[in-house]
Amino acid sequence: MSRGSLNLFRADDSRSALHRARRIGLQAGSLATLPRPVAAFWWRALRRAQAERDTWSIDVACRPAELRVLLDALAPARRVAEIGTAAAWTTSCIALARPDREVHSWDVERHPERARYLALLSPADRARVHLYDRPGGRGPEDPPPVDAVFIDSSHELEETVATFRTWEPALAPGAIVGFHDYDDDAYPGVTEAVRELGLTGEARGHLFVWRKPA
Ligand SMILES: C[S@@+](CC[C@H](N)C(=O)[O-])C[C@H]1O[C@@H](n2cnc3c(N)ncnc32)[C@H](O)[C@@H]1O
Repeated sequence: MSRGSLNLFRADDSRSALHRARRIGLQAGSLATLPRPVAAFWWRALRRAQAERDTWSIDVACRPAELRVLLDALAPARRVAEIGTAAAWTTSCIALARPDREVHSWDVERHPERARYLALLSPADRARVHLYDRPGGRGPEDPPPVDAVFIDSSHELEETVATFRTWEPALAPGAIVGFHDYDDDAYPGVTEAVRELGLTGEARGHLFVWRKPA
């Protein structure tokens, strides 16, 4: 991941000033439409990251426009697994979007940044977030039942395929799997994985949503 910028743009972003201004407008508009606890968290996390000069957490987290699409797709799911916790921004947002939701999030690495942002949650909300330091493709030792899986991990073909195959049998009919960064030239492995798995679903921006048939 790139490092260096303390704003919404990744350090290797080469878009023009006009294009960036439009993107800021889009993100600000999307932030305003997120559920209030989610928008408040995201804004506080951004301010905290800027204060701590934590460029990595800003770079890797889903942006408000992506979050809006993701939270919409996850709306019916009470139990959600996320593969790729990173700094736990999206983990927290998924939890805050529904007060009755449990979120289980996997990462190969216990990134130290995540404690900083999880501390922004109330104790009751933090108790609904369960973290596992284990590759998503190896899956859980004791799988929690979930209604949706959000894959946002290495973006590599093999790992994405392995993660889907690990989780799919544990899902009930109607459950969904969301693949982040689908159809994005920067992450060809995600699109290749969806193709290799032979999945039919819906592309919502750069989120591919597959629903387990009934
Ligand atoms: C793009 S970041 C995730 C961002 C996060 N979902 C968000 O929106 O804030 C990718 C994360 O996936 C993790 N990762 C990489 N390979 C993985 C694997 N095989 N299983 C689980 N996590 C993995 C990385 O350590 C990194 O923290």
